[in-house]
Amino acid sequence: MSHDFHERVENSIKNPKNMGEMADADAIGTVGSPGCGDMVRMWLKYKSENGKRIIDKATFQSFGCETAIAAASLATELIRGKTPEEAAQMSGTDLAADLGPLPPTKIHCTQLVEDALRSALSGPQADPPPKASEAGSPASLMDSLNPESHDASGVKLVFLDDDPTP
Ligand code: FES
Repeated sequence: MSHDFHERVENSIKNPKNMGEMADADAIGTVGSPGCGDMVRMWLKYKSENGKRIIDKATFQSFGCETAIAAASLATELIRGKTPEEAAQMSGTDLAADLGPLPPTKIHCTQLVEDALRSALSGPQADPPPKASEAGSPASLMDSLNPESHDASGVKLVFLDDDPTP
C-alpha cells in the first residue's frame, strides 16, 4: 500500500463526514462483502430542485475497513446535489477518487460503497419510502448484527463465542 494512499485514508477517517443513521431517509441500501465480511449501509434523502429530484443528503454506517469508511464518507459528499441517475453512473473508483489510485487489494472496498449506493438508489422510494425506523428495516447496522437474523443483503453473521472454554 502506498504511503500517499495510506495518508489520504487516514486523513479522511479522522473526520468522516455524514456518518450515522438518517431517521427521515427516503431510501436505504445495505450490502455486505462475502469476501471480507464488511458491511456498508447508506441512507438517501431526496429533494426537488428546478423540477428535478436530486440527492439532498446522504449518510452511511460501516462495519468495514478504513478504506470503506473513507470511501463512504467521500461518496456521501460527492453525490449530494446529483440526480439519482447521475449518482448511479458513478463507480466506486469515481466515488473515492480523492483517495487517489487504489491498491488492488482495496478496490473491493470502494466497490462495497458503490453497491450500497446502488442498493439505496434502486430501493423502493415512492411506495412508501422506507424509513430507518420502520419495522423490517433495521435502524442501524448494529440492529443487523442480531445473531438470529440475516441482513437484508443476505449476509449471515456468525458470532464467535466469547468464552473459549469448552
Ligand atoms: Fe473489506 Fe475493505 S477490506 S471493505
